Amino acid sequence: MHFETSQCYRGDTETPLWRPAQGLKLGNDTSMLVLGIETTCDETAAAVVERLSDGSGRILSNIVRSQTEEHARFGGVVPEIAARAHVDVLDGIVDSAMKQAGVGYERLSAVAAAAGPGLIGGVIVGLTTAKAIAMVHDTPLIAVNHLEAHALTPRLTCALAFPYCLFLASGGHTQIVAVIGVGNYVRLGTTVDDAMGEAFDKVAKMLGLPYPGGPEVERAAVGGDAKRFALPRPMLGRADANFSLSGLKTAVRNEASRLVPLEPQDISDLCAGFQAAVLESTADRLSVGLRLFHEQFGPPRALVAAGGVAANQAIRGALQDVAAKAQTTLIIPPPALCTDNGAMIAWAGAERLALGMVDTMDAAPRARWLLDANATAPAGYGKTRAAF
Ligand code: KG4
Ligand code: ZN
Repeated sequence: MHFETSQCYRGDTETPLWRPAQGLKLGNDTSMLVLGIETTCDETAAAVVERLSDGSGRILSNIVRSQTEEHARFGGVVPEIAARAHVDVLDGIVDSAMKQAGVGYERLSAVAAAAGPGLIGGVIVGLTTAKAIAMVHDTPLIAVNHLEAHALTPRLTCALAFPYCLFLASGGHTQIVAVIGVGNYVRLGTTVDDAMGEAFDKVAKMLGLPYPGGPEVERAAVGGDAKRFALPRPMLGRADANFSLSGLKTAVRNEASRLVPLEPQDISDLCAGFQAAVLESTADRLSVGLRLFHEQFGPPRALVAAGGVAANQAIRGALQDVAAKAQTTLIIPPPALCTDNGAMIAWAGAERLALGMVDTMDAAPRARWLLDANATAPAGYGKTRAAF
C-alpha cells in the first residue's frame, strides 16, 4: 500500500557519531529505501520510506502502535512500562512495516532509529533493534535525532527547500528553530519551563480529562467560553522568542480549584480559555521568532509546524495568521505525521544517507540531545520535563 505524502497544508554538546559512508551507491541518481524505527516515548512505530533520485519521498508503510491504554490509568507515560511495551511489540511492527511495504531486508539502503532524545529505556530498545537488523543484513545504521526527524518531515510531505523556520511543539519540547540544512539548526526560542504538549496534558489531568490531554482539551474547548476566566498571556511582548507555560497552567489550576466540583461547562470554559491563551502567546512568540530568523538568515521559505501539538486545529488556524503577517507560507504535515511515527525517522535517515552520513555500531542512545549543539539554557530556565 502506498501512502500519499503530498498533502501540504499550505543536550548536550557532543557531535553526533557519524562517518562518511563508504562503498555506498549514493548521489542524485540513486533512490533509497530506508526502514525507520521510533520508540522514544509512548509510540512504537516502524515505516519504510523511499527517497527518489529527485529528492522527493514516498511512504511505503507507516505503522504506529500507541501505548495510550497502558499509560492511561497513570495519567501520563510511565518510562518502565513504555520500555517493556516497546520490547513486546517492536519486532512484529517492524515485520508488518516491511511486509506492507513489500520489500525484503536485502533491498534496504539503511536502517534508521531514533537514538534520542527521549525516555532512555525505549530509545535503547529501538536503537538496539536497528543495530541488530543493520548487522544481520549488512546494512548501514543511521542514529537519528528525534527532533531532527520532526524538523525534516515537511521535506518529505512538501519537498520544501532550506532554509525554513520550524515551530516544534511536542510533549517534551517547545522550540523555534532555524532549519538551515540537514544537521544544521539554530535555536531561536525555547520554553523556559513546561513544554506546550506537557502543559496541555497537565491541564487535562487537573480537569479530570483522560490522557493524552492535548486532543481532549481541544475537544472540550469547543463550545467553551474563552473569555470567562482572565488567564495570563505568558511572555507577551518580550524581545526574545522564548515561551513559558507553567504560570498559565497554574492559573488554570487556581480557577479550577475555586470551582470544585467542576461542571462540564466549567471544564469547557477552562479548556477554551487555556487554549486561547496558548494561541495568543504562541502567535506573539512566533512573530518575534520569524523576525529574528529574517534578521539572521533572510526570508524563510516557510513557517513549518511539527510535533504533536501541531495536530491542534485551533493552533493551525493561529499559525496561518502569523505566517500571513510575516509574508511566508505555513506548512504543517498531516496530523499523522505531526505526532510520533516511523516515517519521519526513516525520512531523516534517508536525508542523512543521501549526504553520506551514516553511524557506527558505537552510536549511543541519548536521553538528551540538542538539535542546536550551541544552544544554552535560556535566562530563567527552570526545567520541569521539557528540555531547552
Ligand atoms: O510529538 P508527540 O507525538 O510526542 C512527543 O515527542 O512528545 O507529541 C505529543 C504531545 C502530547 O503532549 C499531546 O498531548 C500533544 O502532543 N498533542 C496535542 C494535540 N494532539 C497531541 N496538544 C494539543 N492539541 C492536540 N490536538
Ligand atoms: Zn515527537
